[in-house]
Amino acid sequence: MSHSNAIGASTRSLHADDALNLVTDVAPPMHLSTTFRYSNDPTQLVPAADATPADYDPTSHIYSRMSAPNPTRFEAILSSLIHGQVISYSSGLSALHGALTLLNPRRISVGDGYHGCHGVIALFTRLTGLQKLPLDCSSDQLEKGDVILLETPVNPQGTAFDIASYAAKAHARGAYLIVDSTFAPPGLQEPFQFGADIIMHSGTKYFGGHSDMLCGVLATNRDDWAAQLKTDRLFIGTVMGSMEGWLGVRSLRTLEIRVQRQSENAARLISWLDTALHAPNPAPDSDEAAVQAVLGEVLHASLQKVEGDWLKKQMPNGFGPVFSIIMKEMRFARELPSKLRFFQHATSLGGVETLIEWRTMTDQTVDRRLLRISIGLENWEDLKADMARAFRELAK
Ligand SMILES: Cc1ncc(COP(=O)(O)O)c(C=O)c1O
Repeated sequence: MSHSNAIGASTRSLHADDALNLVTDVAPPMHLSTTFRYSNDPTQLVPAADATPADYDPTSHIYSRMSAPNPTRFEAILSSLIHGQVISYSSGLSALHGALTLLNPRRISVGDGYHGCHGVIALFTRLTGLQKLPLDCSSDQLEKGDVILLETPVNPQGTAFDIASYAAKAHARGAYLIVDSTFAPPGLQEPFQFGADIIMHSGTKYFGGHSDMLCGVLATNRDDWAAQLKTDRLFIGTVMGSMEGWLGVRSLRTLEIRVQRQSENAARLISWLDTALHAPNPAPDSDEAAVQAVLGEVLHASLQKVEGDWLKKQMPNGFGPVFSIIMKEMRFARELPSKLRFFQHATSLGGVETLIEWRTMTDQTVDRRLLRISIGLENWEDLKADMARAFRELAK
């Protein structure tokens, strides 16, 4: 399981779990067993109370709430890609629950972001009195052991925040920075390089990549945290299933190429939309005129104006496949999905198929004119033609 950068990420996606391949199968087998036989050699039996970390063997399993072959292979590959110890969970929200159980902060500074994360925070507020502070709170409101939870790029807009500046703010107060990097998987963004203490992902999105599995991921470079997270997960019971572990390995094999292409497709479409939106004096009956009649704004990190060069440094390989558009009127946002052929109207993101969501369907807090778009692997010119036609129909 090499973590070395000398081996490219696409190679590590295919080989970082080689040491866990105990059979001659080229395609990993699926192990559905919840329980695993102990050694037949009595001298090899180590009672639980006597086991030390040195006894840990990733090829040997006891009970699947502790560990199982498929999720373990998934974690091995991701540990290599994220450059930290990865612990997998049953969902992105159960990963956040795991991180907050570990750190048990008194205060958490957090922006709007994914509404579900606020549900997890509310649960902790009920149990522990956790106090929620805004993301832009003054640093002296934070104390030792508190947490900044930074989602970047942020859901649903797809715009980015400067990880290094939030890491400095947290660390100056003895607080910790958790980066929810769901919108920018490894290859697009490496939060440890900019000072994150814990990286979190909804693996349901790009790691799964095919809209067919739920999972969550935490990554840390601290051995004590990794050990505690695993122990906590054993008792909370939020492990990912073996089936999901198998699907996850299959999906990680193509992570780099999927994310690169999806991000490139999105960049092309966003650039076309933004240029059309700002075209001076568009000819009547042109695509540009239709876009300008119904579209108000395009939101994405690629269009963000920032001070300094932090954004380019943080996302050197592209700005991610998800962006949002704000229509001029709510009825345009309600109607646009039904006029599109290749954009499926559904929540979630990160899969190979392009999705669009009238975001108010699941998020009670969002502007009702906003549509979130997750670009997939279709030919981008087909997506463009589909959008242009739909805008023309709306503008009629
Ligand atoms: C940024 C972000 N974080 C966390 C989550 C929660 O992940 P899951 O749905 O896998 O629990 C989501 C889900 O959309 C998300 O977009």
